[in-house]
Amino acid sequence: MRKLVYFIASSLDGFIAGPDGADPTGPDGFWPITESYVQHLVTEYPETLPAPARAALGVTAEGTHFDTVLEGRRTYEIGLKVGLANAYPHLRHLVFSRTLAESPDPGVELVAGDPVETVRELKQQDGKDIWLVGGGELAAALFGEIDRLVVKLSPLTIGNGIPLFSRGAAFDPTGWHLSEHTVLENGPLFLTYDRGTPTA
Ligand SMILES: NC(=O)c1ccc[n+]([C@@H]2O[C@H](COP(=O)([O-])OP(=O)(O)OC[C@H]3O[C@@H](n4cnc5c(N)ncnc54)[C@H](OP(=O)(O)O)[C@@H]3O)[C@@H](O)[C@H]2O)c1
Repeated sequence: MRKLVYFIASSLDGFIAGPDGADPTGPDGFWPITESYVQHLVTEYPETLPAPARAALGVTAEGTHFDTVLEGRRTYEIGLKVGLANAYPHLRHLVFSRTLAESPDPGVELVAGDPVETVRELKQQDGKDIWLVGGGELAAALFGEIDRLVVKLSPLTIGNGIPLFSRGAAFDPTGWHLSEHTVLENGPLFLTYDRGTPTA
């Protein structure tokens, strides 16, 4: 069965963005993006690059991991505010919102219902894995459905901000096991964890 994968950039202290909820990797952002990090995305996860970045880098590869992407409304609106109504036209793109009345782009499916039910339905369908972009609130709502974490760990602490799992996350110690790791030049790590303790 296809997996729900929370593929997410995190600081060393577990934050995915600053307290203002803006894009920390944008032009005025504080999040360092190294050349090695971009190159790793291009090589291993080209489908996770937004369309303008794919065009600028000359990336056309479909990628092998994901064919579907899920975003919370606040994450989606970061792109929308700068005129990017569909950052991932190369993927099936679902945005969860109970307030947006109409999709700003024909390629973006708005979902007002329960994200857990939607993900369970998606998992029954054939396809590649499902990429949960975030943010922290949607990830908290979907915590029980997440099969894999790919944490793009940056050599950075920020002290305060939006955590990996935010609003509504329950206290729920959960074991994960490291199934893959990549150490990149200048500090970023890609850490893949699967739910559960190792079996061997
Ligand atoms: N570091 C990274 O890789 C990364 C990745 C993604 C995002 N981010 C950052 O994360 C921040 C945004 O995260 P966030 O936690 O504030 O917001 P979010 O999870 O992106 O969006 C929250 C919104 O999603 C909808 N939603 C959430 N749970 C729902 C549910 N159970 N049912 C239906 N709709 C639901 C609601 O929209 P309505 O209010 O419309 O109902 C809610 O207000 C931004 O700063 C962004 O830059 C970072």
